[in-house]
Amino acid sequence: TAVAVLFGGRSSEHSISSATAAGVLRAIDRDRYRVVPVGITRDGAFVLEDDDPEKFALNPDRMPEVADNGTRVLWPEPAGDRELRVRRADGSVDSLGEVDVVLPILHGPHGEDGTVQGFFDTLQLPYAGGGVFDSALCMDKHFMKIVLQAAGIPVAPWVTVTAAQWANDPGAVRAAAAGLGIPSFVKPARAGSSVGVSKVHAADELDAALELAFAEDDKVLVEPAIVGREIEVAVLEGRGVDPARASLPGEIVLTTREFYDFEGKYLGGDGADVVCPADVTPSEIEDLQRMAVAAFDAVDGRGLARVDFFQTPTGLYVNELNTMPGFTPISMFPKCWIASGLSYGELITELVEVALA
Ligand code: DAL
Ligand code: MG
Repeated sequence: TAVAVLFGGRSSEHSISSATAAGVLRAIDRDRYRVVPVGITRDGAFVLEDDDPEKFALNPDRMPEVADNGTRVLWPEPAGDRELRVRRADGSVDSLGEVDVVLPILHGPHGEDGTVQGFFDTLQLPYAGGGVFDSALCMDKHFMKIVLQAAGIPVAPWVTVTAAQWANDPGAVRAAAAGLGIPSFVKPARAGSSVGVSKVHAADELDAALELAFAEDDKVLVEPAIVGREIEVAVLEGRGVDPARASLPGEIVLTTREFYDFEGKYLGGDGADVVCPADVTPSEIEDLQRMAVAAFDAVDGRGLARVDFFQTPTGLYVNELNTMPGFTPISMFPKCWIASGLSYGELITELVEVALA
């Protein structure tokens, strides 16, 4: 089976996707799969990358990047054979053999939002992970919350603000945000890895938080800071008519860090630990797993998702679903499956085989 591993991409999470590629290229079962590493540059060019995990290892001093090496990967024609080709910098074209399935380990817009998924649907190439709809829905925190709420899944209250509203009536925006109380969080609607996210501790910090979020997206959410534990559950699509499966819950334990921001996630910043399994009771595990699967089903989940919760004295809230969660070997999603009995390599096999089933 030939697998095109697709990583990098046009979003602000380019380097995180590249770091995930390092883990996947290292662990994918080479006896079972022939791997074609395809990088997407920040400009969106598809290039033939090196099959070299070390090149993309997460390094806080030099975040991994897909550079434009002059090659271009040429995808098969729709309804044609599945031959993948590469055009070299000198203009010559070589075959890369047939490709059976694509493993898009892309985060953020233009990769985790249904666009790439629609591209491969059109090419009639099977791909792992979320489909067009669940990817598009979960990339947009505004619409994701509406759907979860409609399915009876508790979500934190929120206010959505567009760049136009902020430009035309900042007073109304400030009043709406104030209605949620302080502290609050301001987040771009369509981003990840906490890029553009701020915690607002006082009313006079709101404007700067909105500006930071609007630099990332022209739609922004304001939410009250939920006081509780941050628990996450990893979900995998079932095969055939089998229901989706939920892992043991993990927990983001904040010690000195105020929230699990980009630095804490990827730059080696301390003060936040990724722990799995979380210290929760069997009945809490049952509730978390049931709600994780319900959330996955509510968004028409495909492939996989990480469901992020707040566990509070008044019950569980779903913060969000990530349809291509961080996937380095030390990320929460693989950690939760390792704790649940599936190795990192087996997890990659599972994603690929579900896509081919
Ligand atoms: N957006 C990052 C990769 C995550 O959800 O883990
Ligand atoms: Mg996210």
